Amino acid sequence: MTTTAYEPYEGTKLERLTADAAVAMARYPDPRSALLPLLHLVQSEDGYVSPDGIQFCARTLGLSTAEVSAVATFYTQYKRHPNGEYTVGVCTNTLCAVMGGDAIFDELSEHLGVGHDETTADGKITLERVECNAACDYAPVMMVNWEFFDNQTPASAKDVADRLRAGEPVAPTRGAASVCSFKQMSRVLAGFSDGRADEGVGAGSASLAGTRLAREKGWRAPSADSGQAVDPTAEAVGAGTTPITPGRTSSTDTPSAPPTGGTADTPTGREPSKEA
Ligand code: FES
Repeated sequence: MTTTAYEPYEGTKLERLTADAAVAMARYPDPRSALLPLLHLVQSEDGYVSPDGIQFCARTLGLSTAEVSAVATFYTQYKRHPNGEYTVGVCTNTLCAVMGGDAIFDELSEHLGVGHDETTADGKITLERVECNAACDYAPVMMVNWEFFDNQTPASAKDVADRLRAGEPVAPTRGAASVCSFKQMSRVLAGFSDGRADEGVGAGSASLAGTRLAREKGWRAPSADSGQAVDPTAEAVGAGTTPITPGRTSSTDTPSAPPTGGTADTPTGREPSKEA
């Protein structure tokens, strides 16, 4: 009896994945280092790390399926079952939890009828508890496909979820002008830019409060090796001995690119800034 080697994917899908995998692998001196982006790549096709995806990664990188699975099961961003179109992650880490994150998760869970790492029957939302997203100054924070929804309440979180399920345009409170799908986001994480990285503001007003105060007061951090006062907002290592240039001192001052999503005729649903 002859056996046929198992072929993950076929046709144009296989061609597309093979070409994209070659691009990802070319970024590393050792091709197997491209496993993490390749796992995101197969998620961008299948919506999760499927059995075919594991076979594809193993075959492409010269690894065993056990080695690929070991990595895929280690990181929570890799999904082992079909993910919803939107991952809604409620931060229930310490600060967000005490500021209302636990209440948001509980009410959202009851509202959607799903628990942690479960997906609504319509395939729209996978609900998760997530760990700190380095946005504690906007607690409690919710993420939709890793876009920020700051200063949430149970009511605002349920409203976002309802609009996502209804297919309405939804925008985070800062950052990109609209949320993309889980598959689109996975392709970006695989290293294929959608050109939207500079859309909207990155650091909001609350995150910049310390920088603002330092500028107002003329505070300087002491240099580690010379004792000189340095620019506390200098970007590059070694740039700290340059004097502060009024006007532009940090990447946070870089103007954001105009949004590609949402126009006056197609509102994004962005909530008004609480910092204005
Ligand atoms: S604890 Fe929620 S963003 Fe840090």
